[in-house]
Amino acid sequence: MPKQDLEFTAAWPRTLAALEQEGALLVAAGKDGKANPMTIGWGTVGNIWGRRVFIALVRPSRYTYGLLEETTDFTVNVLPAGRERDALLCGTRSGRDCDKLAECGLTAVPARHVQAPVLAECILHYECRVVHRNDVVPAALAPEIRESCYPEGDYHRLFFGEVLATYGDPDAL
Ligand SMILES: Cc1cc2nc3c(=O)[nH]c(=O)nc-3n(C[C@H](O)[C@H](O)[C@H](O)COP(=O)(O)O)c2cc1C
Repeated sequence: MPKQDLEFTAAWPRTLAALEQEGALLVAAGKDGKANPMTIGWGTVGNIWGRRVFIALVRPSRYTYGLLEETTDFTVNVLPAGRERDALLCGTRSGRDCDKLAECGLTAVPARHVQAPVLAECILHYECRVVHRNDVVPAALAPEIRESCYPEGDYHRLFFGEVLATYGDPDAL
């Protein structure tokens, strides 16, 4: 099934299901152009500044964090059913130590509007241009979340990506 442009809102329920279960793959490419997929479970979409925005939360300890600081965009990709092991690998191994695309047999293909690639095997894609970055403020966070989610600090940075395109396999929705 060829990939088609999708309504941002139509793609969200399947994306949220992935975020809440195996995770989705955020792909960033550094200055050298080498792409690295990282599993994300936390993220949201909405309307900010009159733009459609995907907010991804990335901890400073991640290799991906450095890539996002070097570049200005990222993609979010939803794996098809049956590839949960790839989400686990991309969420437990670091691009500092291995080539996760090769390990998972995932293919980076050029995106339409951003430098970071999308992943051919995935069923949904968001192309995002970073328009804002903002750090979680420990003192402003509910104490129970601070204690349960940040026992070692490593407070997330929120990357606000303006969604320039949403597309995928319509049968996946
Ligand atoms: C299901 C799942 C969801 C995850 N969600 C996030 C997330 O939203 N933000 C984050 O910083 N790390 C998250 N992680 C952890 C990273 O994916 C993991 O540390 C990864 O190895 C980092 O890769 P990198 O060093 O190549 O960037 C998640 C891991 C899993 C398994």
